[in-house]
Amino acid sequence: MTNRERDSLYSQEVANMGITGNKEFERYAVVTGANKGIGLETVRQLAMSGVMVVLTARNEKRGTEALASLHESGLSNVVFHQLDVQNPDSIASLVEFVKTQFGRLDILVNNAGASGVIVDEDGLRALNIDPALWLSGKATNLVQNVIKTTNEKAEECLNINYYGCKNVTEALLPLLQLSISGANIVNVSSLRGELWRIPKEQVRKELEDIDTLTEEKIDRILESFVHDLRQNALEANGWQKMLPAYSISKATLNAYTRVLAKKYPNMRINCVHPGYVNTDINWHTGPLTVEEGAQGSVMLALLPEGGPTGCYFDRTQVAEF
Ligand SMILES: NC(=O)c1ccc[n+]([C@@H]2O[C@H](COP(=O)([O-])OP(=O)(O)OC[C@H]3O[C@@H](n4cnc5c(N)ncnc54)[C@H](OP(=O)(O)O)[C@@H]3O)[C@@H](O)[C@H]2O)c1
Repeated sequence: MTNRERDSLYSQEVANMGITGNKEFERYAVVTGANKGIGLETVRQLAMSGVMVVLTARNEKRGTEALASLHESGLSNVVFHQLDVQNPDSIASLVEFVKTQFGRLDILVNNAGASGVIVDEDGLRALNIDPALWLSGKATNLVQNVIKTTNEKAEECLNINYYGCKNVTEALLPLLQLSISGANIVNVSSLRGELWRIPKEQVRKELEDIDTLTEEKIDRILESFVHDLRQNALEANGWQKMLPAYSISKATLNAYTRVLAKKYPNMRINCVHPGYVNTDINWHTGPLTVEEGAQGSVMLALLPEGGPTGCYFDRTQVAEF
């Protein structure tokens, strides 16, 4: 099916639901990476609160199956559109869809994410690591034999978690600026991106100095990470040993959130660690449910005018970057 044919099908779906131009919906939302895990649950909770949600997924079959599960549970105010955050054509197609169907966007939840590693899942399970040890960073040496960073996975991780999020946001900004009460953007981050975890002092300092931080500076940090990755010199040059690409992708995502929040003071733009949640991304090692994991994203997606912006949340509480 061509992109044009697919879009006409999605538009027909919206028309059949009588949603276009329907003022019943005060808010329109897009959630990325929403075919499963925290993203799917975020869509469910937003739809439950009366928001009209576009559930997006890179894989059409997985996305439409997720949509069907929500429709079966009685939630009709959810539609599907394909979105691979790494693909510019796919992003453009989503923007066109939101523009023609809704004319604006009120909420963007950048949830899609990848771990940047290859894992021996049986080996990891056999280690039976306690969640507290896992989160403290002290499990790093324990997992070295079962969690491997490859250049391909690491670069893909940056492209999804950082550049994918940034490209989707930038493409949707003109529609977010049309939101009547100021749009809400939620960047789903991780505690792995907290600054105190970055051994490299210069990077830590650059990312925390919000007065001098720019998108160009963030790009340069990622370029230097990729340089060291390709030279097989990550640890030697002070990057995190545990999930190095994932960690820097989330640290830079947090930094981007702050830069963007300064640039668009009429919006509420925040990032959130969802908690340690039982999903595919951590090979089901997390103790929290997806219902608990989506609470932070949903709270930030629904923040009213005058709410916090440029902040990092640990679930529903403001925390240190
Ligand atoms: N679970 C945790 O404990 C935890 C902790 C901290 C942060 N997070 C963050 O929470 C977010 C959601 O993760 P999760 O725990 O729900 O994991 P998950 O179940 O593995 O979900 C990840 C989602 O991202 C999608 N995705 C990956 N690459 C994509 C791309 N190029 N374009 C569009 N979608 C893409 C996946 O789609 P496919 O099914 O097609 O792969 C999937 O829908 C991520 O940003 C993650 O970093 C999770």
